[in-house]
Amino acid sequence: MFDLRLFSIRESRHRIHNPLTEQQLAAFGAALDLPAGARILDLGCGSGELLSTWARDHQVTGVGVDLNPDFVAQARARADELGVSDTVRFVEADASDYVADEPVDVAACVGATWIGGGVPGTLDLLSRSLAPGGILLIGEPYWRTVPTTPEALAGCGVPSADHYLTLPDLLASFGTQGYDVVEMVCATEESWDRYQAPQWLSMRRWADAHPDHELHDEVRQLLATEPQQYAAFTRTYFGWGVIALIAR
Ligand SMILES: C[S@@+](CC[C@H](N)C(=O)[O-])C[C@H]1O[C@@H](n2cnc3c(N)ncnc32)[C@H](O)[C@@H]1O
Repeated sequence: MFDLRLFSIRESRHRIHNPLTEQQLAAFGAALDLPAGARILDLGCGSGELLSTWARDHQVTGVGVDLNPDFVAQARARADELGVSDTVRFVEADASDYVADEPVDVAACVGATWIGGGVPGTLDLLSRSLAPGGILLIGEPYWRTVPTTPEALAGCGVPSADHYLTLPDLLASFGTQGYDVVEMVCATEESWDRYQAPQWLSMRRWADAHPDHELHDEVRQLLATEPQQYAAFTRTYFGWGVIALIAR
């Protein structure tokens, strides 16, 4: 199990905990053409930026579920700030078996498909909350460049290239699982940088302010190695996208 505190430290200044920018998230929300009042369930919602900004921009409603108490607190504060706390709600819980009380129009898992044991299991989990004809949103990494050397595989943190698919293969896999791909938004190198690089400043500031904390040395070690690792591997090899699906 990963240490939630590390994510809270690294991403303390993030509203979006994935490699999309505010502009990309907003454009994707508009592209989905959701009617006012549409209900959204977001499992692994992080700080709730998708729900709160789409509620502000498109008058949708929704529930977000996340097990990180810091992110849930940020999500509630952000909903207050945007004036949507009467239409979106955030639950601090393990989302791995979370099913909505009533069917929703959009069920999302943006960057946490391990909650369902992978993409197919997460599609099954989300489908249990989805109204007929509703939209599923899956945020998932894919290979932009398939690593072939042991060094590249190690740098990407995977035992083999089978760990992820290329984007064409990922999109094709949804068809095999009975879904039409109806929209998508993908990270760019620049949007990856906006996700990754602010984590280094957050870690540096935190380490300076917490010299005696038990996580201090681990954070310092990440700071010493991660920028080069990111530039050599993540930035080159990984893509990341949110795919919108409707069952056939
Ligand atoms: C990559 S972040 C994405 C967050 C958010 N969807 C976004 O795009 O900003 C993954 C999120 O999943 C949450 N998470 C991980 N495992 C979870 C679980 N079992 N139940 C609920 N949330 C979980 C983490 O706390 C984190 O906020």
